Amino acid sequence: MEQLNVKIGHSAVKTTEATVNQLLPDALAARTHLLNGDAPGSDFLGWVNLPEEVSPDMLAGLKADAARLRGQSRLLVVIGIGGSYLGARMVIEALQSEFAWNERDAKPYVVYAGHTLGEDYYNQLLTLLEHEDYSVVVISKSGTTTEPAVAFRIVKAHLEKKYGKSAAAGRIVAITDARKGALHDIAVKEGYPMYVIPDNVGGRFSVLTPVGLLPIAVAGYDIDRMLDGARAMRRVCLEGSNLEDNPALKYAAVRNALYRSGIKVEMLVSALPNLRYMAEWWKQLFGESEGKDHKGLLPHSLSITTDLHSMGQYVQEGERLMMETFVRVKQPATHVPVPTDEENLDGINYLVNKTLTEINDCATEGTIEAHVSGGVPVVEIEVERIDEYTLGQLIYFFEFACGVSGYMLKVNPFDQPGVEAYKKNMFRLLGKPGF
Ligand code: PA5
Repeated sequence: MEQLNVKIGHSAVKTTEATVNQLLPDALAARTHLLNGDAPGSDFLGWVNLPEEVSPDMLAGLKADAARLRGQSRLLVVIGIGGSYLGARMVIEALQSEFAWNERDAKPYVVYAGHTLGEDYYNQLLTLLEHEDYSVVVISKSGTTTEPAVAFRIVKAHLEKKYGKSAAAGRIVAITDARKGALHDIAVKEGYPMYVIPDNVGGRFSVLTPVGLLPIAVAGYDIDRMLDGARAMRRVCLEGSNLEDNPALKYAAVRNALYRSGIKVEMLVSALPNLRYMAEWWKQLFGESEGKDHKGLLPHSLSITTDLHSMGQYVQEGERLMMETFVRVKQPATHVPVPTDEENLDGINYLVNKTLTEINDCATEGTIEAHVSGGVPVVEIEVERIDEYTLGQLIYFFEFACGVSGYMLKVNPFDQPGVEAYKKNMFRLLGKPGF
């Protein structure tokens, strides 16, 4: 298996390797809870074995539906919020061209809805949908979340007006609960193909269910390779019993050691703009899993070098409350040379024999050096390249590390009671019956 390395060589500022090693028994105990299901949240551990248990029949049907949607669409609208869209978006944005809009004849371009209530966003989306053939994947585990329900009602009405009710039904796939919820009932009544989110998999751990697999397959990426990567990482996470063999235990131990030493914020840092949704997915994963009982590292993110020109000052010299976790990718998929210019008016001829990746790596090294000297502990997670396989590895790695880390923190990593607070107020303000 291609390796995924977790390096904590730069974290010596606030914690030492020895302090982290002392947490190995805690990390192993947390892993035992995940494997034995003997701690709070045990009803939501279906994701642990998911890569091994994904049904071949379900996968075959899903690929057939994906091919059908691809064949009839230049656009795919993915409707969902939180765990019902961030995983798919992370993978698709990591793999597709930043300028994929130009390639929408070859692959459907994916746009998102149901993650916002911004009125102009929907007006702009409807304008776009007027001019393009499109299909819809609507995702909601509960089937009752307001944002995707509103978005689906708007998009469904447009789709039915554009294609007629019966043809529109052939352009919609629903992913929801097996038995209950408004989306389940609509899908049954309208005859939409439906995929199930297993009861024992929470939204933020659901990217390897149809929630992530279907949109990713429609977008044209190899979901088998992604599952292979997740399976390989699952073996490492389940088998490795010391910190050097098990990157997930190591990462969980490091972040808990740093939290106990007074660190309050963890920033996920990448030098590749196509990983920005990895940070969004990661923020939800760790934020919803650990942010409870007034505990937990606040997940934040930096895209470098972009954000060094906005957040860099604070990280270097502001309040000392953060650690950084760099996701480093060794090889780019392509190369772009820096052209020679005889006049050298911009003074950058010294870069001409370097690749952009070398330049970016020097920027990253320089950043790590600067932040460490400024008192910021740094962890590095290193992968060879970004493709479906390594994304599968990273997904499983972060999920497993999150489960371990949450149990080390002594919270239930698999509930999210705090998310309900805003909903009650919103429903009251909107006059929803019963609120
Ligand atoms: O991780 C979670 O459970 C949440 O972020 C949910 O995914 C999000 O609230 C959407 O819920 P649902 O899929 O029920 O619409």
